[in-house]
Amino acid sequence: MIDIAACARTRYTAKAYDPARKIAPPLVEQLRALARLSPSSVNSQPWHFVVASTDEGKARVAKATQGAYAYNAPKILNASHVFVLCTRHTLTDAHLAAIIAQEVADGRHPDAQSEQTRRDSLWGYADLHRYTRRDAQSWMEKQTYIALGALLLGAATLAVDATPIEGFDNAALDRELKLPEQGFVSSVLVALGYHSADDFNTALPKSRLPEQTLFTDI
Ligand SMILES: Cc1cc2nc3c(=O)[nH]c(=O)nc-3n(C[C@H](O)[C@H](O)[C@H](O)COP(=O)(O)O)c2cc1C
Repeated sequence: MIDIAACARTRYTAKAYDPARKIAPPLVEQLRALARLSPSSVNSQPWHFVVASTDEGKARVAKATQGAYAYNAPKILNASHVFVLCTRHTLTDAHLAAIIAQEVADGRHPDAQSEQTRRDSLWGYADLHRYTRRDAQSWMEKQTYIALGALLLGAATLAVDATPIEGFDNAALDRELKLPEQGFVSSVLVALGYHSADDFNTALPKSRLPEQTLFTDI
């Protein structure tokens, strides 16, 4: 049995990366698969992933850390890969239709009735968030953060160091990557690679609230 709790215990937020160490391509493929295969409510997949692996690509992402977020710039520039997790800015009917079409192509709907039932369910939840609760953007972004969790734990199981990063100027990154024109906004970054000798966080113990505070067993 894999001791997944051991991975959770040993993973930590890397604070400095060795720019000379790159993630091997097969591991990058696994990380990309974790993002793509991440679950989402009603399989809505309201995300897009920009992966920066070149110096030029990482420099473009790091532009969004000027000023107050400058402390995050070296992590982005020295990591092997930086995933920009983006979320749709609008939940469109065209996107919902693409999900159904993909499910049909993947063989999930043996007949027209199954497809129609699924269509009703998908549009039902989409309309709940678009028109009744009016929280579609926030609902979609919650899904993107599920992919963040998958990436962080997955990286740990692959012995790849990672840094989740919310400390950046979203609007600046959106402009730099022309995300709104493609229907997306940036939500969160993940720098991935291998820590350097000056990563102070390797020596610090992990700190979490006690189990009895966090759990109620009934
Ligand atoms: C959504 C999110 C955003 C974060 N943003 C940053 C960040 O901008 N820079 C940084 O150095 N760490 C960032 N962190 C790391 C957290 O501070 C860290 O996960 C937390 O202190 C727990 O420590 P651990 O990850 O080492 O277990 C972020 C973490 C999460 C989950």
